[in-house]
Amino acid sequence: MAHLISPSILNADFGHLADVIDMLNESRSDWVHLDVMDGMFVPNISFGMPVVKLIKKHSTKPLDVHLMIVDPDRYIQDFKDAGADRLIVQYEACTHLHRTIQVIRQTGMKAAVALNPHTSVHLLEDILHDLDQVLIMTVNPGFGGQDFIPHSFEKIKQLRKMIDERNCNTLIEVDGGIDLSNISKLSDAGVDVFVVGSFIFKSDNPAATIEALKKA
Ligand code: DX5
Ligand code: ZN
Repeated sequence: MAHLISPSILNADFGHLADVIDMLNESRSDWVHLDVMDGMFVPNISFGMPVVKLIKKHSTKPLDVHLMIVDPDRYIQDFKDAGADRLIVQYEACTHLHRTIQVIRQTGMKAAVALNPHTSVHLLEDILHDLDQVLIMTVNPGFGGQDFIPHSFEKIKQLRKMIDERNCNTLIEVDGGIDLSNISKLSDAGVDVFVVGSFIFKSDNPAATIEALKKA
């Protein structure tokens, strides 16, 4: 399968959000990645439901919503109502992950779990068949523009093996420090979806950068 690109708008120009979404609509991006941060699970605060709702109004692409918040169960229905198509919860923030995944799926959204750099992919062995997607954090969550953590390659290879052995359709997504220098190698290692933030939005021509990432 050709890889998918899910641009993270965390470092985009929020003064011209509708223009950013128009650009993404016309680009070769597959999804739009939205980073919700609560200042508790991560040291940073970003945006919440009203902004997701506004983006949904303009976007023609599926919204891939990444919750970096404690106890995400409290807000599953709110994010569904705001327009999320895929909901990602952090493994480290869930006490009853199986139930959380069930509730996400019951709303009709695709369900995904994100793993911090210190969290082993093997912790998902008993739930992998219930997941639409696993997000391997390739930086510590909280900020855009950080360096890719090289050990992530090992995690990706292990997860690829786990998915293939079980014959499930779970997608592998990576998030953090992705650019043209590492995307092909990651794609070869078995990544299906790439979240890319600053490399796209700090470039002179974001749409052309998306195109280059898609072709890589
Ligand atoms: C980090 C977020 C990422 C971030 C990626 O906590 O989850 O989605 O926006 O940004 P870059 O691509 O700049 O590392
Ligand atoms: Zn993210």
